[in-house]
Amino acid sequence: MTQTKTRSRRESVGRHTLIRGDALNVLRRMPAASVDVAVTSPPYNIGLAYRSYRDRRTENDYLDWMADICAQVARVLKPGGSFFLNIAGSSSQPWLPFELMVRLRDIFVLQNHITWIKSVAIDDITHGHFKPVNSPRYVNRNHEHVFHLTHHGDVPVQRLAAGVPFTDKSNIARRNHAVDRRCRGDTWFIPYETVQTRKQKFLHPGTFPVALPTACLTLHGIDAQSVLLDPFMGTGTSLLAAEEMGIRGIGVEIDTRYVAVARERLREKISAQKTSS
Ligand SMILES: C[S@@+](CC[C@H](N)C(=O)[O-])C[C@H]1O[C@@H](n2cnc3c(N)ncnc32)[C@H](O)[C@@H]1O
Repeated sequence: MTQTKTRSRRESVGRHTLIRGDALNVLRRMPAASVDVAVTSPPYNIGLAYRSYRDRRTENDYLDWMADICAQVARVLKPGGSFFLNIAGSSSQPWLPFELMVRLRDIFVLQNHITWIKSVAIDDITHGHFKPVNSPRYVNRNHEHVFHLTHHGDVPVQRLAAGVPFTDKSNIARRNHAVDRRCRGDTWFIPYETVQTRKQKFLHPGTFPVALPTACLTLHGIDAQSVLLDPFMGTGTSLLAAEEMGIRGIGVEIDTRYVAVARERLREKISAQKTSS
């Protein structure tokens, strides 16, 4: 399928803005320094079957495009903002995420490099889910990258809010901690929910769990005025996290049907929140 070149279309769903359009065009029109946190998972250039986007560019074309996108994210990000870029390589393109990071060195500082663990075997028990790699050469890919990019590498992060309680409570008094919490570190185990059908995955080949953008927003820290941006919104998962946390989200997606899924998911979430409050 070819990429859509039509004009963008914007709509409001609750406090959020959904834009059906091309990320680069939309970002170029956004005001500078208007976003607190950008969280996104772009196409990885691994041939996933998206509806309107062909996920198979030449490597250089892909890297040039992503560098242009990220330069625009830098422009719209506030001075103290955070950009969480979730991406993974593949067995045939293992260097791609790292090559992209090298290209971004002139634009951003890599403040934290978080590994999103989708599945892990502890002793003989497997936790979480992964797509099996059927190969005599490669092991299954159970993790992805979350690159935390900032303008100058000096954005304070909410280590404890995003952290975990101590397992050994004696640490609290021995090490003089004010609260029963410590930093979670740079490995985040966030499994997908178990699903049986493609419909439960919103008929989209590459979504992330709501808990991932939630963890990013928690680590950066937000207030009621904070604005989240996801330039590759897909089915609207980042905006669901924004809604749960009471902030405004702006999502851009090239495919009309994925925008419709995002709209529906958001409406359901907003009405569920109203019912429970
Ligand atoms: C990895 S998916 C994002 C999935 C999302 N995180 C979710 O949970 O649903 C990448 C998305 O980028 C969209 N996309 C591809 N090219 C685009 C472009 N030029 N502008 C905006 N969106 C684009 C694809 O249609 C796809 O939905």
